[in-house]
Amino acid sequence: MRHLLSTGDLTRDEAVLILDTAAELARVGDRSVKKLPTLRGRTVVNLFYEDSTRTRTSFELAAKRLSADVVNFSAKGSSVSKGESLKDTALTLQAMGADGVVIRHSASGAAHRLANWVDGSVLNAGDGTHEHPTQALLDAYTMRARLGRLEGLRVAIVGDILHSRVARSNVLLLTTLGAHVTLVAPPTLLPVSVRTWPCEVSYDLDEVLPKADVVMMLRVQAERMHASFFPSVREYSRGYGIDGARLSRMPEDAIVMHPGPMVRGMEISAEVADSPRCTVVEQVANGVSLRMAVLYLLLGGS
Ligand code: NCD
Repeated sequence: MRHLLSTGDLTRDEAVLILDTAAELARVGDRSVKKLPTLRGRTVVNLFYEDSTRTRTSFELAAKRLSADVVNFSAKGSSVSKGESLKDTALTLQAMGADGVVIRHSASGAAHRLANWVDGSVLNAGDGTHEHPTQALLDAYTMRARLGRLEGLRVAIVGDILHSRVARSNVLLLTTLGAHVTLVAPPTLLPVSVRTWPCEVSYDLDEVLPKADVVMMLRVQAERMHASFFPSVREYSRGYGIDGARLSRMPEDAIVMHPGPMVRGMEISAEVADSPRCTVVEQVANGVSLRMAVLYLLLGGS
């Protein structure tokens, strides 16, 4: 494995190896000195063309905990705003000797393109509405840590599936790992191709909730919408938001997940967001260990 572009590229064994390695590395986070010398002398570039809070800082921290040198590059304030192309930017970074490039870009397929231009490993940190593999991996890690297994788990992914790279990466990874996925959304927020995805589809959240071990709420990606996909925020919340009443209809040990950023009051009520059954903060913590594992496996070899 040289790049991490899509969870669809991972075999079951590769995915399990990543999760197991993350579990080992999580112990480093519990020490007072949180650093390993593994990637000393290696350079990781964080190339972010889209806004990010969790993913960028998480990759940065992960690389630093493995002692890599980290360069943070954001499109704002760089020559990108002068019109430099992705290819020329990539070749510039390459000339500086980047061993790994973490990229987030608004264009689906950007990470794949980049992988053809640079010698180092490319890690897809979100490409348009396409994929976000490390998010899916940290989600699987969190499910396994909380519920003890992935095989046979019933996972509902709820909300704006149409614009969600998190949903696609999760469907591909979770089915590889033996979980059953049901996508829940209004018809307008489902891709036309969804019938070919290896999962079930429902328009009715209340019907799915009582049978779910995991409910993953997604943010409505307003920044990717150029038309109206539902009548009003209120109507959306009523059909596809989770609140205390809905939480109480889930099995007792079922969990609520969210990749962040949450829009409280829309897809998730404050009551649920702050409940101990919501794993949003754990997902962030697990994200650092998971990204350490991926960097270690891609760049640490030999
Ligand atoms: C997600 C993303 O950027 O795709 N966030 C994240 O990386 N944690 C989801 C979102 O923006 O809603």
